[in-house]
Amino acid sequence: MASISERDSRVIWHPYTPMKIWPEAIAITRGEGAYLIDENGNRYLDAVSSWWVNLHGHSHPHIAERVSEQLHSMEHCMFAGFTHEPAVALAERLLEILPGPMNRIFYSDNGSTAVEVAIKMALQYFINTGNPRKRIVALENAYHGDTFGAMAVSGRSVFNATFSDYLFDVSFVPFPYPGKEAESVEALRTLLSAGDVAAFIVEPLIQGSAGMYMYSADVLEQFFALCKQYGTLIIDDEVMTGFGRTGPLFAADRLSTGPDMVCLSKGLTGGTMPMGITAATSKIFDAFWDDDRSRMLYHGHSFTANATSCAASLASLDLLLADSCTEARAMIEAAHTGFAAAMRKHPLVADVRHTGTIIALEINAGTTSYHSSIRDRMYRYFLSRNVILRPLGNIVYVLPPYCITKEELQYIYSCITDFLSAEAGTQ
Ligand SMILES: Cc1ncc(COP(=O)(O)O)c(C=O)c1O
Repeated sequence: MASISERDSRVIWHPYTPMKIWPEAIAITRGEGAYLIDENGNRYLDAVSSWWVNLHGHSHPHIAERVSEQLHSMEHCMFAGFTHEPAVALAERLLEILPGPMNRIFYSDNGSTAVEVAIKMALQYFINTGNPRKRIVALENAYHGDTFGAMAVSGRSVFNATFSDYLFDVSFVPFPYPGKEAESVEALRTLLSAGDVAAFIVEPLIQGSAGMYMYSADVLEQFFALCKQYGTLIIDDEVMTGFGRTGPLFAADRLSTGPDMVCLSKGLTGGTMPMGITAATSKIFDAFWDDDRSRMLYHGHSFTANATSCAASLASLDLLLADSCTEARAMIEAAHTGFAAAMRKHPLVADVRHTGTIIALEINAGTTSYHSSIRDRMYRYFLSRNVILRPLGNIVYVLPPYCITKEELQYIYSCITDFLSAEAGTQ
């Protein structure tokens, strides 16, 4: 009998995978806490939370139970003209904890669609209020997803180069690298002062896919304050940073100025099911409250507010809001702080970046390309040590599920330092 991996290689087209160069895929048959287990019984420590989605560990019994109950009572129903308890309860609970304050929850399927919805809400807000604004501003090197609107507001890069001719025009503000914050703030001020900017979309505190580039809450506060000054709507893309990744529940919790819209996905369901959310303030919602149907939001997906995903999200929130989860995140943050201090002295480490439960090391490899060869060497080396780390070019980062133990974190750190020692030996 052919293995799952062999059968896969005949029928599957994987995401972000050069299929000819990298045909093999490891077949996972079980998940247990921070571990994924393959068809041959190998256990891998999931140090990147399966593309940043998993919060509490794989196959968590509390989430599994709630999902199972929901599947047995009502798995899904259309969400126009109908509603259900899990969707309403989840909206009620999220509105209590989201930065803002937010007033309404719009459901979709993933992070990219959460962003698409936010862009449409922002543009139509200005049309509905009789003062059309056409421009969107984003940060250079941003990543907001792979659908066309989300690609358009993302930095122009290898991720979207093939489609650049088809992306609408967006103005980009230079990233606020340390020491360059004032330039970014001034660039944003110049763009906003033209008075035609509908929305500023931003990954708060950390640009994930760009390579875990971090910046201070102080700069973000200045960005938000400028948007308020010039009447530009703020789209806070917390698809990666949401649900505790940066320490507090949401990155924007560190600010005194609230966003107008928040995009959520990934950890929303604890990483169990796909779902996206765009939360909006009453100011946005009220602009769509009209007798004229042409002013409603023309957007919806077949699986909008999927009841099973909502049940998973409610179960994940139970776990996230428990004191034990806050303590777990604090433990990860403290462990990362210790590792960061040690790594800052390493001759092969060009930069160490750390916020909350996320740590990133930029390795001196002579290139920062997403396709750099050190990336594949690192990836394979860590797999050989039974750790899943998916470096972004020469940047290796750890973004673990909150159930990870101190010992498991130390093991991941030791794999990274062992790799660096081996590299130093070959240079
Ligand atoms: C900040 C941010 N926004 C949006 C997305 C897109 O989310 P999805 O992959 O669920 O479409 C991502 C994905 O990594 C992200 O990091």
